[in-house]
Amino acid sequence: MVSLLENPLRVGLQQQRMPEPQIIVIFGASGDLTWRKLVPALYKLRQERRIPPETTIVGVARRDWSHEYFREQMRKGMEEAHGGVGQEELWQDFSQGLFYCSGDIDKPESYQKLKNFLSELDEKRGTRGNRMFYLSVAPNFFPEAIKQLGSEGMLEDAYKHRLVIEKPFGRDLASAQSLNRVVQKYCKEQQVYRIDHYLGKETVQNLLVFRFANAIFEPLWNRQFVDHVQITVAETVGVEDRAGYYESSGALRDMLQNHLMQIFCLAAIEPPNALDADSIRTEKVKVLRATRLADVQNLHRSAVRGQYSAGWMKGKPVPGYHEEPGVNANSTTPTYVAVKFLVDNWRWQGVPFYLRTGKRMPKKVSEISIHFREVPSRMFPSAAQQMAGNILAMRIQPNEGISLRFEVKMPGAEFRTRSVDMDFTYGSFGIQATSDAYDRLFLDCMMGDQTLFTRGDEVEAAWQVVTPILSVWDAPADPASVPRYEAGTWEPAEAELLINQDGRRWRRL
Ligand code: BG6
Repeated sequence: MVSLLENPLRVGLQQQRMPEPQIIVIFGASGDLTWRKLVPALYKLRQERRIPPETTIVGVARRDWSHEYFREQMRKGMEEAHGGVGQEELWQDFSQGLFYCSGDIDKPESYQKLKNFLSELDEKRGTRGNRMFYLSVAPNFFPEAIKQLGSEGMLEDAYKHRLVIEKPFGRDLASAQSLNRVVQKYCKEQQVYRIDHYLGKETVQNLLVFRFANAIFEPLWNRQFVDHVQITVAETVGVEDRAGYYESSGALRDMLQNHLMQIFCLAAIEPPNALDADSIRTEKVKVLRATRLADVQNLHRSAVRGQYSAGWMKGKPVPGYHEEPGVNANSTTPTYVAVKFLVDNWRWQGVPFYLRTGKRMPKKVSEISIHFREVPSRMFPSAAQQMAGNILAMRIQPNEGISLRFEVKMPGAEFRTRSVDMDFTYGSFGIQATSDAYDRLFLDCMMGDQTLFTRGDEVEAAWQVVTPILSVWDAPADPASVPRYEAGTWEPAEAELLINQDGRRWRRL
């Protein structure tokens, strides 16, 4: 039998690949993401010889920079974020492919100028009209940039022109639908790459391999054996200097609706017919359409928000969210959110999925854990109290790996049991699983593989699930009504209650 994962004709997630030479145009090139993540990711691909030397990067932003100044900025970025450029000769060659074109996002003449410049570069660099337009600008500029690119005919070739859109894709269902309408007016879905960088993480992709390349787990992956599932993405960082963005976003929009729900989808989907983009994304949409909040009438029983107050991180005092620069003193923006989802389908009916994410938690850790049902009969009554139940945990970061918890007998005359963990860590491969995913996502986009990007209907389906929460939390409220947790501690008491009400506990990580 040819397996789903071996058949090269059906596999979208391929291994050794080299894309065609192309120009990557980054809108918002003077922002942090460009020097911190995007250009370093492309340089890494070049170092690994995964992209051709003709690959060309054009930064677009309002500031009046020269090509040379842009190159210097990117070099500084490499030094600051990655400790240097490595081989000097390679950087020199790579940086000759970095260009800058100043322009205003809402001025048609900027796009005409860009279009001409790209044609010149095609001649010079041999990039054959292949383009990737990467929108790394504030989300309110997305529609305008797409309209202008489309009107200038820069998106008209469905094979050569690609559009990459950073998150957040909309701020609720209505705005996501409206953005999708703009996208659809100028592009075919096959040209559109909606980024969720969590999908580029090695261990998130491993969820697919783990579930569908191992015959022993899939038969257990359902309501008959699974008691509940927990997904945690905890961060130690606070809002830092991003209040301008974060205040209108918050943990639900910034993390849960996208990163956590993507992990949730991969854990919950049915086996796709093939590992190509559409088969996987179709299954994700099916799961999302079957997903609902456990109790919409009593929202606190299925969604809890929180804000960090002043506390201690690594022995140092840190301010509370309200004291952070740029945060409104009456802000109700959540820095923590926990939800309880139910999935109404044959596989998951009645199995709760608890998802939580927060800033200023005691540890940076992302994990998905599958908690299996208790054994049906208490054959070992003396041990029953201590038996934790089987847990399969997949760590997304750090120390990427998988562990399976099961019970063993303690040596001795009595029947005493103890939980032990059987661990696999990516470290044992001798290679670090990179948790920074942009290189993988760039390569896929350059190759035209959309598997790790979200489809238009998928983003809308995810917004649909959280709409009942937004409609309550977006309403003006007394800031004191938002539960607090001290920086450096786990969730607020209300979030403990969310899971304790069902006789379960959050996993201590
Ligand atoms: C981003 C969010 O999408 O993901 C940030 O905007 C968050 O607020 C970040 O800190 C977390 O990503 P990672 O890869 O560090 O887990």
